[in-house]
Formats: sequence, C-alpha cells, structure tokens
Amino acid sequence: MSDYKILPSILSADHGKLVEEALEVHLPGIDYLHVDIMDGHFVPNITFGPQVVASLKRHTPFHLDVHLMIDRVDEYIPQFAQAGADIITIHQEATRHLHRSLNLIREQGAKVGVTINPATPLENIRWVLEEVDLVLIMSVNPGFGGQAFIHSSLEKIRQLARWREEHRWSFIIEVDGGINEQTAPLVYEAGAEFLVAGNAIFGQPDRGAAIQRIRQAIEDQQSRKRTILT
Ligand code: DX5
Ligand code: ZN
Repeated sequence: MSDYKILPSILSADHGKLVEEALEVHLPGIDYLHVDIMDGHFVPNITFGPQVVASLKRHTPFHLDVHLMIDRVDEYIPQFAQAGADIITIHQEATRHLHRSLNLIREQGAKVGVTINPATPLENIRWVLEEVDLVLIMSVNPGFGGQAFIHSSLEKIRQLARWREEHRWSFIIEVDGGINEQTAPLVYEAGAEFLVAGNAIFGQPDRGAAIQRIRQAIEDQQSRKRTILT
C-alpha cells in the first residue's frame, strides 16, 4: 500500500458530463475526488454550488474533498456539508475568524481542512494546526487549472512536515496546483500525502494511464533513492 493518494480534480473535466468523467477515474487506489468551489469573488472564476456536490455524491462512489475558494464561508459550510462533502477545506485568507469557521465545519460533521495561498506564510495558520484534519498547501494561485507549479511551496511543505513531527500532529498534508509527472515526486519527497491533479489527469485522453504515469514517476524517484542509499 502506498503512503500517498492521488486526488483527481474535477475542475479540469468536462462540466457537461461531470459524473461520467468522475467515473472514468474510479480506479484502484483512487477513492477521493477533489471538487473546486469558486465564487467569482475570492477567485476570478466561478464553478459549482452545493447541488453539484450533492449530485456527485449521489452518482459516484467517491469521498468528496471540497475546496472552497469563496468568501463568506460560514454561510455556505452547512450547505456543502449537507450536500455530502467529506472534507471541507477553507482559505485562511477568506475568513476573519478562522478558528470559528473551522469549528463550524467540525460541527457540521465534515473533516476539517485549512489552506493558504502561495504568498501567505505558514505562520498564519500556526495556531489552528492542532485542530485540523488536513492542511492544503496551494502550489498555484487559486482560480484555474493548468497553471505552472510554484516551487517555493516545496519549502512550505517541508516546514509543515517538520512542525507536524515536532508536535506529533496528525493532519494530512495536501498539495494542489501544477501537479504532474515532474512535480509529483518533488511534493511527495517534501512530505505531501494527498496530491491533487486536474489538468495532468483530465487533460489527457487516457485518464487511467495518466494516473499511472504520475505514480510511476514517484516510484522511479523512490527506487533511485534506494539505489543511492544501498
Ligand atoms: C486551482 C484548483 C485546483 C486545480 C488544479 O485553483 O484549486 O484544484 O484543479 O489544477 P491543475 O492540477 O491543473 O493545476
Ligand atoms: Zn483545489
């Protein structure tokens, strides 16, 4: 069993046939779907609402990893939880009272995720880390699929992994944006366990083969490392 997961991001799929596209990535080891919610305010793009999340929940077998890129999160967290979101991740930059908003997610029965944009320091979420199930490090500016990976996020992942070890915290480290065959081995090595990929999967004609190539790239890097160490 591997110690990381690949989470296909439905943002890069054909929105006219979301369920069909999602079912195409229902493959061994793929049990989460990443769902990007954008409101045209917090980010300059608009995607789905709670009804689409509810449909994905009803018609696909996945756990839903719902990434809210929206303002006024407190008004919408209950709706996404009721729609069947298993994990709800909110941006530190989008709420004035982060601790309260995270509690609201917990009260609504979903797993609690927090995330920061590439320009936001890790320190901004330091005092909620004890309370969360997942920390998402954004490796692109949120809003669009298919952007280039921002390499400074690697150092953030490393630092977060160090903090987690020092404090014996148990949250999952997730990374989102620009993940492909080249960058997946780097974020895995830095300490990320949930690797979100949109364009690198749904932008390819054969989604299963695309997932396999990402896994292979990580495996190749690990076996190179084992060879060097022995
Ligand atoms: C970006 C979204 C990502 C997006 C990633 O704002 O949060 O989840 O789908 O897409 P790729 O993998 O294409 O960078
Ligand atoms: Zn996302």
